Amino acid sequence: ALGPYTHYMQKEIFEQPQAISDTLEGVVGISSSIFGHETPAMFKRLKRVLILACGTSYYAGMVAKYWLESLAKVPCDVEIASEYRYRESVPDKDTLVLTISQSGETADTLAALEHAKSLGMDMTMTICNVATSAMVKRTRAHYITRAGVEIGVASTKAFTTQLAALFLMTSAIAKEKGLLSEEEEKARLKDMRHLPEAMRAILEKENEIKEWASVFAQKNNALFLGRGMHYPIALEGALKLKEISYLHAEGYPAGELKHGPLALVDAEMPVVTVAPNDELLEKLKGNMEEVRARKGELFVFSDQGCNIQPSEGMHVIQLPENYAVLSPILHVIPLQLLAYHTAIAKGTDVDKPRNLAKSVTTE
Ligand code: F6R
Repeated sequence: ALGPYTHYMQKEIFEQPQAISDTLEGVVGISSSIFGHETPAMFKRLKRVLILACGTSYYAGMVAKYWLESLAKVPCDVEIASEYRYRESVPDKDTLVLTISQSGETADTLAALEHAKSLGMDMTMTICNVATSAMVKRTRAHYITRAGVEIGVASTKAFTTQLAALFLMTSAIAKEKGLLSEEEEKARLKDMRHLPEAMRAILEKENEIKEWASVFAQKNNALFLGRGMHYPIALEGALKLKEISYLHAEGYPAGELKHGPLALVDAEMPVVTVAPNDELLEKLKGNMEEVRARKGELFVFSDQGCNIQPSEGMHVIQLPENYAVLSPILHVIPLQLLAYHTAIAKGTDVDKPRNLAKSVTTE
């Protein structure tokens, strides 16, 4: 069943181009009815979006917040399900409650959804990878990602397909609100259809990333930096590394470095930087200098047009294109590969990391 791959996680990382095209299959135009017959009315009515999820699915939600607020001009809150379900919050009936879940059976996310409903919020939707799950049954609208069965405990293809679905949803809400011109719609569809090919080109960097992984396997700690919509990608990169290679890793928005974590940086600290060519790049370069000044070793994932040259203490892998607004879906891939190969180098059980279960159905 593994074919040419050594582990399910590796297989699932490499299945991502297919998972994305399956998830977007049949999408010929952007429309709110893609998500069910109730969504056109819901998308018209909504004034806010509240995203509830756990773990990697929560990070997908964090990326969606950047998209929803910038492209659809809809205020968005993202909350960890186990926090939301137990705190006193202020409900708002015009909020779309969106859960994100690979399994659709995560106890905390289900409970958070029921909590939101009990507060009178009736617009509920889920982005989920299992059509028969409790999550799908308990929400009014849904979009089923077609990642296929994910066996590796560390989520990979579920995450990128969630992002694709979230981008599609953001575009549909923008269209419903009159914020998406016909021309933009065409361009978005074209960009989404290009994702599988763009992913394949990134997967070809596996050997380069493997070399970096042999360095990480010798370390005890790592920092991951990103800015804007790549801050959640830095968090996801750090989570993947801790989960399967048991390295202590933390993700930070790069601008926060000097507010604390810079104190950790020395010659022993590898610092992974997610550095796409966007409007935040110059700021990020400043943060990278802060790291170098403390002798921290930088491992930078740049992309086309970044002009970041390797030098002493600064390693660079350049992704082949610049991916504009879809960039988080692509920039997470090298981080998955880095975690995978670090774990292999350390000899840990990649598909079944200690202490973790694939689907967390208890609190
Ligand atoms: C991390 C991972 C977990 C899950 C989380 C939510 O690699 O897999 O953090 O993302 O347990 O699970 P779902 O998405 O099934 O609700």
